[in-house]
Amino acid sequence: MSFKITDKVTWVGKIDWELRRFHGDEYSTNRGSSYNSYLIKDEKTVLIDTVWKPYDEEFVNNLKKEIDLNEIDYIIAQHGEIDHSGSLPLLMKEIPNTPIYCTSNGAKILKGHYHQDWNFVEVKTGDTLNIGESTLTFVEARMLHWPDSMMTYMSGENILFSNDAFGQHYASELMYNDLVDQAELYQEAIKYYANILTPFSALVGKKIEEVLSFNLPLDMIATSHGVIWRDNPTQIVLKYMEWAKSYQENQITIVYDTMWNGTRRMAEAIATGIKEADDKVAIKLFNAAHTDKNDIITELFKSKAFMFGCSTVNKGIMNAVGGLLDMIQGIGFKNKKVAAFGSYGWSGESIKILEEKLSAAKLEVVQEGIRVLWNPDEEAINNCKEFGKDFVTKL
Ligand code: FEO
Repeated sequence: MSFKITDKVTWVGKIDWELRRFHGDEYSTNRGSSYNSYLIKDEKTVLIDTVWKPYDEEFVNNLKKEIDLNEIDYIIAQHGEIDHSGSLPLLMKEIPNTPIYCTSNGAKILKGHYHQDWNFVEVKTGDTLNIGESTLTFVEARMLHWPDSMMTYMSGENILFSNDAFGQHYASELMYNDLVDQAELYQEAIKYYANILTPFSALVGKKIEEVLSFNLPLDMIATSHGVIWRDNPTQIVLKYMEWAKSYQENQITIVYDTMWNGTRRMAEAIATGIKEADDKVAIKLFNAAHTDKNDIITELFKSKAFMFGCSTVNKGIMNAVGGLLDMIQGIGFKNKKVAAFGSYGWSGESIKILEEKLSAAKLEVVQEGIRVLWNPDEEAINNCKEFGKDFVTKL
């Protein structure tokens, strides 16, 4: 499959409807994804990025239907991660001397992955490549989200090839933002930001301001995953600016795991107390063991505050909650208020451990956690409701 985006630019990527896990098992891709590669035909011919290795033969064969590979003058490798560079080894067997434009970090990463001495041409922000009527301008986007990440702006067509930035893991044959289901698109875009880009939020705002300062006309943002933004493409740029600033909605999320439902009953009682104190706030509860971890991270990203609850098991906490807390520490949420709760049978360490992990994630624990021996009785349920009410007063 290929399709023309403009007279000069053709999409030559791969829509991966089957993909359900990405970055190993770290990221769920419940709606699949796409690896977007672009072929530019001006006076010179340019290929921007490739696709993930399992599809390398399909990619190269499809590319041959578009062009004699020997006519490709330049390859631009905006990012060395395997989902975009994975077809380079097969492609470069056919055209081994073709220059590969990338950042200096990109050259290191590609050499590290493939151990090939290809003809790397290192570029940095502001460097240009004249390809005929259009000029390509490179913009380094270091740590968005790898050290080598780079974007490329094409004058004349006014397209920003943004690589991972502004993407979504979202398979669709429609391929344009104005044609797809808007709720699905928003959900996949915010999940992608929350899980992949939050650690780099401080850089996101600066990079966007830098790109905007160039005052370049922008007709499309052609990402490397998901749909191409052609209808009001700046809408996703503005969303990124909003998400990058310690984003929160009027939402409180309660995440827990439970062995015999005592901690679940506590969670529900706390939610009742929160609702009694504030009937406008969105309250969402998730059993960490039963819920997609990346969906929970997305909900925590949207929250102004959240709680973690867990039974005590073997003097510790349950593994689904523990895994999420480790993820949260790495992601580095800002501006979230938190508290802990849980039931126990004899030793009862879970609250202390939850609070330590929440503090280690640099989150503000706003009140002492509540723990209940065995299954909560009516008095304990009322205490949990009061705990929820108190939490609201601390926000
Ligand atoms: Fe889509 Fe960072 O690779």
